[in-house]
Amino acid sequence: MIHELIHNALNKQINAEFTAWYGYLGMAAWCSGKQLHGCAKWLRGQAQEEHSHAMKLYEFLVARNLNVQLLPLDEPRTEFDSVVDIFQEALKSEEKNTKRIHKIFELAMEQKAFASLVELQWFITEQVEEEATARDNLAKAELVADDPAAVLDLDEILGSRKLKLQPAS
Ligand code: FEO
Repeated sequence: MIHELIHNALNKQINAEFTAWYGYLGMAAWCSGKQLHGCAKWLRGQAQEEHSHAMKLYEFLVARNLNVQLLPLDEPRTEFDSVVDIFQEALKSEEKNTKRIHKIFELAMEQKAFASLVELQWFITEQVEEEATARDNLAKAELVADDPAAVLDLDEILGSRKLKLQPAS
């Protein structure tokens, strides 16, 4: 049986992953409005990933026969100053998420919640990749920030991301 504290923390993490999903959609919507369709496509792909992260935890709780709490989502930001602003926001959100996951992992260690530790390990590995990608995107956006032609090139590169049609289960 999962300890109540871990159960609550996992439900909150489901909300955090859905919040990230909503956040990336807000960024994508801004990019679409600026005709930066490549950036929008990349960010929608990222939103889908966040959705699949939320569902991974949702399915974990279901498999453990624990109730899933779907907490309300805050309205995401949909106004940005630039592509740099977008990728700064993305990095900030990933760093925040990493800290949150590390805290739950620590709690699971204290509680000897072994199944949760194994589940959370996947998220720790995933966050390393997500932060690296976010840093990479920000560095590139900063490099091209003052050159509209280069921003369009970056937009095209980001647009080559393959979108998964369904969130991973
Ligand atoms: Fe689900 Fe980007 O962390």
